[in-house]
Amino acid sequence: MSVDANFPGIAKQDMDTPALLVDLDLMEANITRMDRFLAGKGMRVRPHYKTHKTPAIALKQLDAGAIGISCAKVEEAETLVSAGVKDILIANEIVGRKKIARLAGLARHASLMVAVDDPRNVEELSQGMSEAGAWLRVLVDINVGMNRCGVEPEDALALAQQVANAPGLMFVGVMGYEGHCQTIKGMEERQEATRQAMSRLLQARELVQAGGLDVEIVSGGGTGTHAIDADIHGITEIQAGSYVVMDRDYRDAGMDYANALTVLATVISRPTPGRVIADVGLKGMTTDHGLPELIGVLGGSLTRLSEEHAIIDLSDPTVELKPGDRVEFVPGHCCTTMNLHDRVYGMRGERLEVVWSIAGRGKFR
Ligand SMILES: Cc1ncc(COP(=O)(O)O)c(C=O)c1O
Repeated sequence: MSVDANFPGIAKQDMDTPALLVDLDLMEANITRMDRFLAGKGMRVRPHYKTHKTPAIALKQLDAGAIGISCAKVEEAETLVSAGVKDILIANEIVGRKKIARLAGLARHASLMVAVDDPRNVEELSQGMSEAGAWLRVLVDINVGMNRCGVEPEDALALAQQVANAPGLMFVGVMGYEGHCQTIKGMEERQEATRQAMSRLLQARELVQAGGLDVEIVSGGGTGTHAIDADIHGITEIQAGSYVVMDRDYRDAGMDYANALTVLATVISRPTPGRVIADVGLKGMTTDHGLPELIGVLGGSLTRLSEEHAIIDLSDPTVELKPGDRVEFVPGHCCTTMNLHDRVYGMRGERLEVVWSIAGRGKFR
């Protein structure tokens, strides 16, 4: 890593920008809250790494009681294994000899699970594991209505049986992610859609059990549906990700976990009384789930981002903001924003306490 002007002990107002900050008190409270809530329902969280891609945060989630970590890519799993994480679900299909050879290597260092939805993939996974003398735990991926990956519930048994009979593979359960339900605006509508989606996952579990196989794991859910999933008997673990630091989008969707993630920026220009420009743009904050939110400036709002500039409108031109002053934004989407940064700065109040490498950033292979 290159030399960093921001070091533990430095005050927020003295930090070099743009800088991705996490409020440690708020993040730690989010972690504890999710864990306690699910424990109270007899369930466990398997936090999704895609949100923060930061091994140090994954370790905190495990310390607080998470059953393991989920992620989407082999490279992400590699960064988790390097950090000593022992129980990893790659909640995604891993296809191709090269990637499967890497999986086999990782499987020697951690209890590793992957999702499957295709008999040809089961064959190549089995071949790869057998050649390497390794074992892989496997979940059958069910399409619960998001229409991304996943088999229909009626097809789960045949695939589960193929896995159970395949050398090098161990069938352990089913998973289904109801991404289409996470931010449905009305709570009743979200509940109804989630229950419908997860009834497909439970249907798959029942068909597989009726076929004579044990279903140890039923995995699914996200931040926006975790409280609904927690009341559905039969789900064993929740793959929530965003709850740990949150973003503007999930807050607008009614989730009251704390917004712990912000981007700190510096005002570089005030060309007119009503317009302020800060030094962060699309290369430091994403807009795929809508614009970030400017906080702490009365009557100020972010109207536009270009690559390296944030354009802020002030409804009150007497507000004092001049070049060199700091402004702060809550990202529109935490997961894609964290993926833009090399490090995240852990703040205790107004002081930098710890600098963490976002080791999984850009690791999408
Ligand atoms: C497979 C899978 N599980 C869980 C999640 C949950 O993420 P979040 O809690 O951020 O909604 C996602 C998000 O994309 C996902 O793709």
